[in-house]
Amino acid sequence: MKLKKLVLKNFRNYSNLDVDFSDTTNIIFGDNGSGKSNLIEGIYLLALTKSFRTNNDLNLIKENEGKASVNGTIVTNEKCSYQIDIDEEGKKVFIDGDKLNKISDYVTKINIVLFNPLDTRFINDSPAFRRKILNIEISQINKEYLNLLSDYNKVLKNRNAYLKQLLINGNSSTEYLDILTGKLIDYGLKIANIRNEYINELNNFISDIYKNIFEYGDLKINYKSMFKNKNVDKLTDDYRRNYRKEMNYGKTLFGIHHDDFEIKLDGHNIREYGSVGQQKNSIISFKLSEVLIIKKLTHDFPILILDDLFSELDDKKINNIIKMLNKEVQTFITTTDIDKVNKELLVDASIYKVNNANVERIDNNG
Ligand SMILES: Nc1ncnc2c1ncn2[C@@H]1O[C@H](COP(=O)(O)OP(=O)(O)OP(=O)(O)O)[C@@H](O)[C@H]1O
Ligand SMILES: [Mg+2]
Repeated sequence: MKLKKLVLKNFRNYSNLDVDFSDTTNIIFGDNGSGKSNLIEGIYLLALTKSFRTNNDLNLIKENEGKASVNGTIVTNEKCSYQIDIDEEGKKVFIDGDKLNKISDYVTKINIVLFNPLDTRFINDSPAFRRKILNIEISQINKEYLNLLSDYNKVLKNRNAYLKQLLINGNSSTEYLDILTGKLIDYGLKIANIRNEYINELNNFISDIYKNIFEYGDLKINYKSMFKNKNVDKLTDDYRRNYRKEMNYGKTLFGIHHDDFEIKLDGHNIREYGSVGQQKNSIISFKLSEVLIIKKLTHDFPILILDDLFSELDDKKINNIIKMLNKEVQTFITTTDIDKVNKELLVDASIYKVNNANVERIDNNG
């Protein structure tokens, strides 16, 4: 999958940008604050309808403007135009000019993997943050997953409300609670199975990737869930035994809304044991594993974005990554310092200079 063309209108610091990209490596360089991350944020938004650095879409609209728009031409075995419009009223998504009513129909179309230096949050932030990232990643390749999450969350909300009610009314009948618990288990098990499979897929790749790039260590991801490897009967028993406790708290204490994941390097949890560098390296490997999973499951490589990778890694490691990608993956790399970029990489790359929201393509030989 390749992004051939990107058009930004009143998006972040861009008034009007129209730029064509190469199918292989695109290096985007410019000073701090020039608009490099804004550019790749536009690409990310185009694919996932969400930003990676703000939850408030209105931040994406250029200051003093009413509406932002991102349009991109994506080529797979066909060529399609994708568009997202954002204004005060919300977000609209279009494919080839036709408006789509369900965002879930849109987000499975363009596959993208982003590495951003802030991603080490994935290791150090809360389980909720890790679940959020994983949910975004799985929903790109599994349409059913978003719907299951939404079904689960609805049951969870009802169940919490009912538990509160039981607490207040002192009602001892658990008939309705049994029904809600049954639904929670049903959706929860489906979600847990999908998460478990995804983590297994990641583990098929991540250890080799880490070793290939960093030349030591054994990296693994561990899925932690109360639902993992359990069946309906066992879970029903577990919930029943804790009904009283849940009534006392007035909320659902167990379920896949508490799932977590840990990354282990040579058997040690990288959050408690790993150095800052090892944490970054494990996230880079995690992202590159995703590239390979998406290729395996969809038979096409996703678009890969490496924001500020050069500030994170030395030449040799970047070379190892580029070799691994083997020019098959369309890659966007941002950097402030073009001189730091390995010459070998520059030869085959298209280079773009960003200066105060202007993007200029620079001739390779120039
Ligand atoms: N909604 C907006 N309207 C106008 N300008 C904005 C908006 N949002 C952000 N900006 C500006 O866009 C500029 C560029 O930000 P961006 O994050 O793309 O920089 P960058 O090139 O990635 O820099 P760095 O090298 O420091 O990462 C910033 O100066 C910021 O103030
Ligand atoms: Mg930036």
